[in-house]
Amino acid sequence: MSHPVKKPKSVYACAECGAESLRWLGKCPACGAWSSLEERRARPAAPRVAPPASGGVRARPLDEVETDDAARRSTHLAELDRVLGGGAVAGGVVLLGGDPGIGKSTLLMQALAGLCRGDVRGLYASGEESAAQVASRARRLGVAHKNVLVVSTTDLEDVEAAIAAERPSVVVVDSVQTLRAATLDSVAGSVGQIRAVASRLIELAKRDGLTLFLIGHVTKEGTLAGPKVLEHLVDTVLAFEGDPSGAFRLVRTEKNRFGAAHEVGVFEMVEDGLREVPDPSALFLSERPERAAGSVVVPTAEGTRPLLVEVQALVAPAVYGAARRVSTGLDGKRLAILLAVLDRKAQVHVLDQDVFASVAGGARVDERAVDVALAIAVVSSLRERPVSPGLVAFGEVGLAGELRAVPRAALRLTEAQKLGFSRAILPATNLAALNGDAPRGIELVGVRSLEEALREAFG
Ligand code: TYD
Ligand code: MG
Repeated sequence: MSHPVKKPKSVYACAECGAESLRWLGKCPACGAWSSLEERRARPAAPRVAPPASGGVRARPLDEVETDDAARRSTHLAELDRVLGGGAVAGGVVLLGGDPGIGKSTLLMQALAGLCRGDVRGLYASGEESAAQVASRARRLGVAHKNVLVVSTTDLEDVEAAIAAERPSVVVVDSVQTLRAATLDSVAGSVGQIRAVASRLIELAKRDGLTLFLIGHVTKEGTLAGPKVLEHLVDTVLAFEGDPSGAFRLVRTEKNRFGAAHEVGVFEMVEDGLREVPDPSALFLSERPERAAGSVVVPTAEGTRPLLVEVQALVAPAVYGAARRVSTGLDGKRLAILLAVLDRKAQVHVLDQDVFASVAGGARVDERAVDVALAIAVVSSLRERPVSPGLVAFGEVGLAGELRAVPRAALRLTEAQKLGFSRAILPATNLAALNGDAPRGIELVGVRSLEEALREAFG
């Protein structure tokens, strides 16, 4: 008589705190997180093995350990290579997140084709589109060559089989939310499935030295759909962003085990795909209104490359109740703090005004070096007084109204000078630390406070 095969039991674990439960619950009883429980197969307890008396593992001095300077392969998109930390790494896993329609499939098809020049084989696994759709995009992009294979499926097992059969060096999975592992009962896109799909593919990548790109959707709230743990599982997290109605796209490094975080790559979406923008500062400033109140240029330096962007502010008397603060591409909390500092420390009264602030061209600035430029833009709009078109400003504003130093001042100044700016307002401490590193041909104005910065900006 044959016995029915017993399916291993499921347990449900909270993605936030790891607490386990035997049934699914909408709210984690341990930490109170909502919808955080994910299905997992209960694993039979591993037999206990006594540690070997003298193991084969030995601790060694750091300087004797040979480093495997991870072999880098170029995507032939210099903007993408830089955000990856100098190219793609064998065994490296990259998660690319972004809104639907932003161009994720386009970018990674181009990157895959670039990586597969020569006789490297690549696999594009799509759970979103048919093989015909993927091929027609590749043709349109002019990259449909024979080294790039395509498989269209929503079963993880099919993707694993294709990898085993074709032995590609690079794999793109589009998207991690559309694949489903048959070992779990839950539907594709659920937290448990996303974790299972990602961890099995990552295991393969590590074992075989594959370069793996996972595409991930972003929810309306702007976070990667699926568990936060996805971000912990991968080596590199890239965010693809930009205003979908405009042509510019930014790839940002949010995490990178193989390079610097906060690196930014700039692309333009044209008819035949994404085109690199090698001189993005010029592009971000191309539509800048000269001599318009409320516009100030700031040299940012979030990664290794400086980028000049235009910060804009519009100030108008609040009509109903509490004054509104709306910011796009800038940290809204930072804006609120700056307005309070302007009011209390610089005698600029804006608390009863609606304030709208944004970074032009769909860029986003996360660093505090933008503070002083944003404050100057607000005052410029309030007083209807434009700043000189040759001016740039950078520096963090403290709660006491002091101007604080920011990193990479020389890099910022060099970029500003290169683009023809003639005067820079910067923290006095940055100026003192420059030690002759400053470029020639740009007047440097070191200031200690926001008040002083405003005096210099408006004469
Ligand atoms: P896609 O890569 O499919 O976005 P995602 O995978 O992030 O959803 O591309 C999205 C848009 O880009 C699509 O609506 C049309 C546009 N596009 C171009 O303008 N030029 C092109 O060459 C391609 C392939 C797409
Ligand atoms: Mg797509």
